[in-house]
Amino acid sequence: MAEYILVKKSQVSLFKSIPFYYQTQNGEYSLYKKKGDRLDEARLKKTKYPDLYIFDADRETAMAELIAALNKDFEKKIAQGKLKEVRETLEFIVEEALAPGQEKNMTALPETLDILLGRYHNDNGAMEYLRKIESNSSILVKHTVNVTALTLQFCFFHNFSESDTRQLAMAALIHDVGCSQIDKTIIETSKRLTDKQFKIYTTHPEMGHGMIIQSTDFDMAIPKVALEHHERIDGSGYPNGLTRLASYSQLIGLIDSYESLTYRGKAFRKVKKPFATLSLIKEEVMRGKFSKELFKRFTSCLGA
Ligand SMILES: [Fe+2]
Ligand SMILES: [Fe+2]
Repeated sequence: MAEYILVKKSQVSLFKSIPFYYQTQNGEYSLYKKKGDRLDEARLKKTKYPDLYIFDADRETAMAELIAALNKDFEKKIAQGKLKEVRETLEFIVEEALAPGQEKNMTALPETLDILLGRYHNDNGAMEYLRKIESNSSILVKHTVNVTALTLQFCFFHNFSESDTRQLAMAALIHDVGCSQIDKTIIETSKRLTDKQFKIYTTHPEMGHGMIIQSTDFDMAIPKVALEHHERIDGSGYPNGLTRLASYSQLIGLIDSYESLTYRGKAFRKVKKPFATLSLIKEEVMRGKFSKELFKRFTSCLGA
């Protein structure tokens, strides 16, 4: 029996070289778009369209096209400085990936997120971690998405290789996975943490590191980011007060601070405008917590 694979909504506009099908009322599959046509994003926003499927035999071609198209799409948006759109797209992809899947028992294309991170050949995809994060706190998912979007922006702007970009995006996505083990009230409180709560909070880097090295075959740089993203090069960070940090850890640490100050307003610390946040971080740079060179490269990718 011929098999059809459901196309995720976030992927519909990315295909050109393969035909799409839809299911008619009597359960048969009928052609929706022919090979060579593309359903463009603007049109899809306006029209209601049915669930779309590809034919199983087109799966390989579909994968190759998806990977190329997704990268191109992100690169284009980032080149145009559309960070908000990148963030929205990422949020959509994450939301979709976290939604209960109806096609569990069907042949399926990998999650968009896994494609983006280049982990579509691996069973331990990004999803496993994201679900852990989501199971504890939706605020944490938002923070994670923002940090990942900013990281992608940095990598594309500075022409990082595809494999470095993927590694860094993966590191960004799971840098706070240790927080999934910490009491939700500590993660989501709008009040300043008490000393005791802060002590608990500061265990998340080691916890995350432990989770990542245990369960997957990631490059060592990735668990290292989870361990070191709150370390500062002047030795004032935690958990170990290190002064020599991996470059990935320094980058994600900087982006993480920027994100927390800009987007993640806590009642005791009003959300700052991006520019005000940059001057706050600049003070930290001047005090020697972050590398000047890295800070310069980060501000240039923000167009600030
Ligand atoms: Fe953290
Ligand atoms: Fe973080």
